[in-house]
Amino acid sequence: MPAHTMLEDRTTVEALLGALIHAPSSHNTQPWLVRLYPDALDLIADRTRALPVNDPDDRELAISCGAALLNLRVAAAAAGYVADVRALPDAADADLLARVALQPSGAEQADAALRAAIAARRTYRQRFAPDAVEPAAVQALVDAARREGATLGVLDTPDARLRAAELVAEGDAAQWANPSWRRELAAWMHPRREGDGLSMPTLAVPLAQAVVRTFDMGHGVGAKDRQLADESPLLAVLWTDGDAPADWLAAGQALQRVLLTGVRHGLQASYLNQPVQVAALRPKLQQLTGRPGYAQLLLRLGVPAQELPPAPRRPMADIVIAE
Ligand SMILES: Cc1cc2nc3c(=O)[nH]c(=O)nc-3n(C[C@H](O)[C@H](O)[C@H](O)COP(=O)(O)O)c2cc1C
Repeated sequence: MPAHTMLEDRTTVEALLGALIHAPSSHNTQPWLVRLYPDALDLIADRTRALPVNDPDDRELAISCGAALLNLRVAAAAAGYVADVRALPDAADADLLARVALQPSGAEQADAALRAAIAARRTYRQRFAPDAVEPAAVQALVDAARREGATLGVLDTPDARLRAAELVAEGDAAQWANPSWRRELAAWMHPRREGDGLSMPTLAVPLAQAVVRTFDMGHGVGAKDRQLADESPLLAVLWTDGDAPADWLAAGQALQRVLLTGVRHGLQASYLNQPVQVAALRPKLQQLTGRPGYAQLLLRLGVPAQELPPAPRRPMADIVIAE
């Protein structure tokens, strides 16, 4: 019998899982499950929530779970624990993404300080306020990614930014031209009460789904996204040296550490991942960083111009696998 039974205490479980479920995930699929033990928990990929067209290798699914893992580590630190993480501990079980053992002392203060940012983070898809991102904040974001074994490559020349914006528009055109991609997107447009997906008012759902399924809006969306990229206060590629599940999990933790660090500097972020998702464009985006590697996400960051409501989440109980 283990000496401590932290995860048999309901308050601790709720503190950890309450943080975990607030991680960002592609199309708000929330593709994670947990199995609880007295002193540890398993983070498990829920591949029934995969996006086979948008994300055929489950790369973004693993990144989303990595973001959830970072939230768990931060919440553990805030509750006074050290989270000892073994990534991909079982070669025979690809769904078991991490085993997290909790130790009751020695919590990382720097991690605990990010706790309040978890609930304040939003994916901010609108135009940002015109404020520039301070150099100290940029450095903090770069350090945050580095600490998790990934790199945040800031695109800071006009030429690289312009080229990235063009790749985003090219990516939009390729994705919207694909009816399967549009059907998959429409299937994840949900009324708010459902607790997952890209939420919208209940009455708007049928029409919005029909429009997305039926019309190739690649041109209009591409023009808007090109402008968003072009005028972003900060545009940056999050990339890794490798492109295996362990790299994706690291990229997810790096993403979330970058996002939470950004919130502490008054910043929010959103994604322009089209040139990563369209395979032919991915090496071209990586080239803009000037380094060899694998682009995982293209992020825009800035000061939000307004407050946004939180996106919906499934209840905590839904992600726990009963023994
Ligand atoms: C790996 C990953 C990829 C994402 N890709 C996109 C994207 O291409 N476009 C977009 O608007 N949002 C993208 N998102 C954001 C999600 O849609 C968002 O996290 C989700 O809807 C929940 O909203 P929230 O982040 O405000 O909590 C992505 C998130 C993750 C983790």
